[in-house]
Amino acid sequence: MKKPSLLWLSSLALAAAAFGVIPGCAQFDGVHTLRGSDAGTVDQVPETKPYAGKRPGSGQPIVRTFKEQPPLVPHAIDNFDEITLADNQCLECHSPATAKAKNAPRVGERHLTAASDLRMDRYQCNTCHVPQVDAKPLVASTFSGTAPAKR
Ligand code: HEC
Ligand code: HEC
Repeated sequence: MKKPSLLWLSSLALAAAAFGVIPGCAQFDGVHTLRGSDAGTVDQVPETKPYAGKRPGSGQPIVRTFKEQPPLVPHAIDNFDEITLADNQCLECHSPATAKAKNAPRVGERHLTAASDLRMDRYQCNTCHVPQVDAKPLVASTFSGTAPAKR
């Protein structure tokens, strides 16, 4: 087969840039950026909302929507989401040593080494466990989740 010439390819790129479409890709029809095509338009940054949830101990766990999901944080995390090497407030309530006394769920078994110490790859809790915000989704989603995973 004859290779497409460079000229032909660059005309295609020019056409795509001019019309903002990818020729032949029907699935992209009607897809727009959130800002719009004019780069000078002010970005529609959604308003900053506070995290939902109250003081730990006053809420209920949030139902998990797929197997292996890191449970979502159902409580406020003000004042204890600044995790440093010297200080991890999450562990004040969730570590195997403290959970019972604090009446908090204990970290999962897989967070621990054979000697029941926290694995360091689980130290930064909020990389996986995220608090929630009561906000309208930016784009529609058809995700419905699987049956709630067994606790
Ligand atoms: C003062 C104690 C306390 C602190 C500090 C705390 N938690 Fe909690 N956490 C709780 C309690 C109690 C619950 C049970 C739900 C409730 O009552 O809010 C809970 C629930 C959770 C859950 C839900 C578990 C499940 O099975 O659904 C996650 C995840 C969680 N916390 C993560 C964190 C993270 C991450 C931090 C640090 C940023 C943190 N928590 C700090 C006490 C605490
Ligand atoms: C790499 C991702 C990751 C990190 C980091 C992490 N977790 Fe988890 N966590 C999970 C997943 C996934 C689960 C669900 C099942 C499991 O693996 O134990 C979970 C489960 C939990 C549960 C519920 C346990 C249960 O048996 O219901 C608590 C509480 C929890 N984590 C707290 C924490 C805290 C506190 C930290 C920080 C010290 C932390 N996690 C760090 C991924 C993570």
